[in-house]
Amino acid sequence: MDDKLLEKLADEYGTPLYVYDGELIQNRFHRFQSAFSELDAKVCYAYKANSSLAICALLRELGAGADCVSIGEVLTALKVGVNPRDVIYTSNSKTDEELSVALAAGVNITHDNLDELEVMAGIARKKKKQARVSFRVNPDINPRTHPKISTGLKESKFGLHFEKDLAFNAYKKACKMDYIRVAGLHCHIGSQILDAGPFVEAAKKMMAFAFRLKKELGTTLDYIDFGGGLGIPYKKDKKLEPKELAKAIVPEIKKGLRNLGYQPAIVFEPGRYIVGEAGVLLTRVNSVKKTPYKKFVNVDAGFNTLLRPAMYEAYHEVKVVGKKDQQETYDIAGNICESGDILAKNRKLPKIRKGDLIAIMHAGAYGMSMASTYNSRPLPAEVLMRGKKTDLIRERGIQEDLHWKQKIPEDLA
Ligand code: LLP
Repeated sequence: MDDKLLEKLADEYGTPLYVYDGELIQNRFHRFQSAFSELDAKVCYAYKANSSLAICALLRELGAGADCVSIGEVLTALKVGVNPRDVIYTSNSKTDEELSVALAAGVNITHDNLDELEVMAGIARKKKKQARVSFRVNPDINPRTHPKISTGLKESKFGLHFEKDLAFNAYKKACKMDYIRVAGLHCHIGSQILDAGPFVEAAKKMMAFAFRLKKELGTTLDYIDFGGGLGIPYKKDKKLEPKELAKAIVPEIKKGLRNLGYQPAIVFEPGRYIVGEAGVLLTRVNSVKKTPYKKFVNVDAGFNTLLRPAMYEAYHEVKVVGKKDQQETYDIAGNICESGDILAKNRKLPKIRKGDLIAIMHAGAYGMSMASTYNSRPLPAEVLMRGKKTDLIRERGIQEDLHWKQKIPEDLA
């Protein structure tokens, strides 16, 4: 994004500000989709990466379905006009009420345990409405990424294990239930994966399992969902293009499909790959402080605005807008009252002064969607650029938001 434009947007809308490049989102969506065109794969964008309405609407416009992890995300998908058949609702823990809403909405429901399946069957029977369900399986694969975002390990809380036939028995049970249509098979092994190997392992296990379901239970699935997880080059040294990923896994999937002898739809749920690189977080320098050990740049954003560095030791490239030569080494310190609130460590950057504008790159995924009002700081604003057009898609939060829905008991007022 052009430095002059970033300055202009920061002046116009204030900071901290998330700015998204809609054309890059479109480019990434098409790149992903075309990489898997041989399979005619359905791309269900993972809303958790960025569930701002305008971003979801843009992706719906491009033809994306929705991977949702809460009823909130399901309702967002329906609000922006995604067909309920293209909505996949996956969560390890759903209330009975949430299951009821999902059934009424007519979305695909992924179960992660048998208690939930029983409840779902009960509700479906009562409402005389068929539920389209799938199970998330635990393929016991190490995706070789950060432990907090590895989900397919055998110790993980997610999925039903192949071991001890836990997954198989769930299908066996579901097949016999009234008002339950066994529609899919789901897995998601982790996030920010830059190595095709674990995806290939997962694909093999999934296709073999689908074969077993057909052979032993006669089950034919409507779809097989391989989840998301494709990483992006936060550091320029390593990346995995969708085309390379496809080259590695499409032959496995095709082989599996030939064995199956029927044609389920193939689904992927990328989140980060679609929106991650397209977002920049703009933050203004409040002050610069030299200590005997370090130089800190205090900015007006913190881990309430971008949690990734504090939560996952994540690296985000940092630029000083409008300045070039790298002369000094700084830590970019957030404004949250915690020592862990460092947005970037030991970065060689141009000489920074109060008032400079800092751009934190690759902040489009899991930035705004994980933002909070911790330390009583209202949420940032968001802007979507498409070519020369810029739209404010979320107004900056205000003080009143922080007190919204709170009550002071009369005797304390
Ligand atoms: N499908 C399911 C079931 C998921 O749990 C996830 C991500 C995705 C798809 C999308 O994965 P992606 O393509 O974006 O890697 N907050 C963390 C990432 C958590 C990912 C959780 N699940 C971060 O900032 O790195």
